[in-house]
Amino acid sequence: MSATPAYDRAAELRALDATLAGVRGLVASGTAHVPRIFRVPGPEEPLQARGGRPAQERSAATVPVIDLGGCGDGDRAGVVDSIRRAAAEWGFFQVTGHGVPGEAMAAAVAAVRAFHDADGGEGSDKARLYSREPGKAVKYHCNFDLYQSPVANWRDTLYLRMEPDPPAAEELPKSCRDALFGYSKQVKNLGAKLFELLSEALGLKPSYLTDIECDLGQIVLCHYYPPCPQPELAIGTSRHSDSGFLTILLQDEIGGLQILHEDGWVDVAPTPGAFIVNIGDLLQLISNDKFRSVEHRVVAKNAGPRVSIACFFSTHFHPASTRIYGPIKELVSDENPPLYRETLVRDYLAHYYSIGLDGGAKTALSDFRL
Ligand code: OGA
Ligand code: NI
Repeated sequence: MSATPAYDRAAELRALDATLAGVRGLVASGTAHVPRIFRVPGPEEPLQARGGRPAQERSAATVPVIDLGGCGDGDRAGVVDSIRRAAAEWGFFQVTGHGVPGEAMAAAVAAVRAFHDADGGEGSDKARLYSREPGKAVKYHCNFDLYQSPVANWRDTLYLRMEPDPPAAEELPKSCRDALFGYSKQVKNLGAKLFELLSEALGLKPSYLTDIECDLGQIVLCHYYPPCPQPELAIGTSRHSDSGFLTILLQDEIGGLQILHEDGWVDVAPTPGAFIVNIGDLLQLISNDKFRSVEHRVVAKNAGPRVSIACFFSTHFHPASTRIYGPIKELVSDENPPLYRETLVRDYLAHYYSIGLDGGAKTALSDFRL
């Protein structure tokens, strides 16, 4: 006999979906309990999901902070060296001195907050944009993988495909149009700078990674994590690595992002004015493991709402590029043979999504290992 009564999970997922108002709508309606569809399994299970040793709940280590302003002060080699070490050992670092104006960052966070704070339901921007259609450039949804994932996440997302083929201005909600177009442009420039430094960190010419179009696609996910009445029962974002080449993340002051480092979860402390940068699976693949794509998650909190804006440099499914990515030939030799097979971005993505976040014993990338 089962200890818990059966429940119709699919029906509850459909009911949430039909509100067109996401987790925020649930919270606005006064929900005092975390519904079953969001409940994570017992504490031991998710931590051991990858087969290895269980992760420690907390680690005191801290993610490296790198001041890109050092490049302008004549210490480019020092900055490149710090990035090489952080990308190899952590897969994550924070950057300051990056040149993006604080006003552009604050305006973007405020615009995302305003969009999500608004009510959903009939006639709203949220209802107009509510979709999970892969080809759509601008869409809003609660959980991109609502019907596939074992645990729904305590999060809503506004999705924008900004490059290539940016959406027409009118497609973005009016309340956040200017701020998010402006922000995306700034982050694209920062991405170009980081791809130069990462190329150099691999011992390649500065234009190498942009020459092979690692920065061709830019997808901006504007996340909103409503305050959760029972945070220990839910998860904001299930553990995962990012699928693309590189991610530039901006988080507000609430916190909750944790990364897996030496078998422990390390909090990425909100650092005013800084961006968080992390290596994605495809960059680990083409760097032939010189850089690491590291798993991370967002814990739910009874605080907030928390806003974060994740900018992925990846083309995902658009355009249907025929460019093939494999370990960079300058990085392989008889002593360093290629560790991965070649792939199209869209084939990698299809496999990544077929496994899903928190996918059990292995990551999508491990299936591309030779
Ligand atoms: C992501 C992600 C972290 C955050 O979008 O892939 O990991 O802080 N986001 O929202
Ligand atoms: Ni991520």
